[in-house]
Amino acid sequence: MIDSTVSTARRVELRRITGDTVYEVCKLSDTLSEEQHDFVADNGISIAEAHFSDVAWFRAVYADDKPVGFLMLHLGLDEDEPDSRGVFLWRFMIAGPAQGRGIGREAITMLVAWLKARGTSELYVSYGKGPGSPEGFYRSLGFVPTGRMHSDAEEEYEAVLRW
Ligand SMILES: CC(C)(COP(=O)(O)OP(=O)(O)OC[C@H]1O[C@@H](n2cnc3c(N)ncnc32)[C@H](O)[C@@H]1OP(=O)(O)O)[C@@H](O)C(=O)NCCC(=O)NCCS
Repeated sequence: MIDSTVSTARRVELRRITGDTVYEVCKLSDTLSEEQHDFVADNGISIAEAHFSDVAWFRAVYADDKPVGFLMLHLGLDEDEPDSRGVFLWRFMIAGPAQGRGIGREAITMLVAWLKARGTSELYVSYGKGPGSPEGFYRSLGFVPTGRMHSDAEEEYEAVLRW
């Protein structure tokens, strides 16, 4: 479960991406293993998609002043997607060399605090299963499967975290 009282030794921040940092953030995708690549789009694709969306919110994840990850929310209420259920973690990745150090957990904890302060009480996600799947990561943070598929075509299983 997420415990916002737990802090890691490193300083994790969610920062805006700028013209100066976008290249470095895009290159983080190259550090994922081949298996992990199947579970998340390249950051460059995500940032491009965000610029064609009215409901995307994205930030780079920094640890000790270095970019180490990327996250993007779908804020819901999209007139093109009347079925969307609420705030959805659209994309999330931590660079290969930075994985396994609690940075992903810390980034989601910060995201939840940000959403909470804005009156949101749940966060949806979806993931594929199989080798390299982030399912165990989301489960360990307290996400619970909803039993619904986010996308039948891509076998994306939906889960939700409520607080
Ligand atoms: C999933 C991902 C974001 C996790 O980031 P991370 O910084 O390595 O995760 P953390 O170190 O914060 O791990 C937090 C907990 O999740 C567990 N965990 C992390 N990845 C896991 C996995 N793939 N399977 C099972 N458990 C996992 C850790 O063991 C840790 O458990 P603990 O707190 O009980 O010790 C990262 O592996 C990643 O970017 N993967 C590739 C892209 C991806 O799949 N993104 C999600 C798209 S839906």
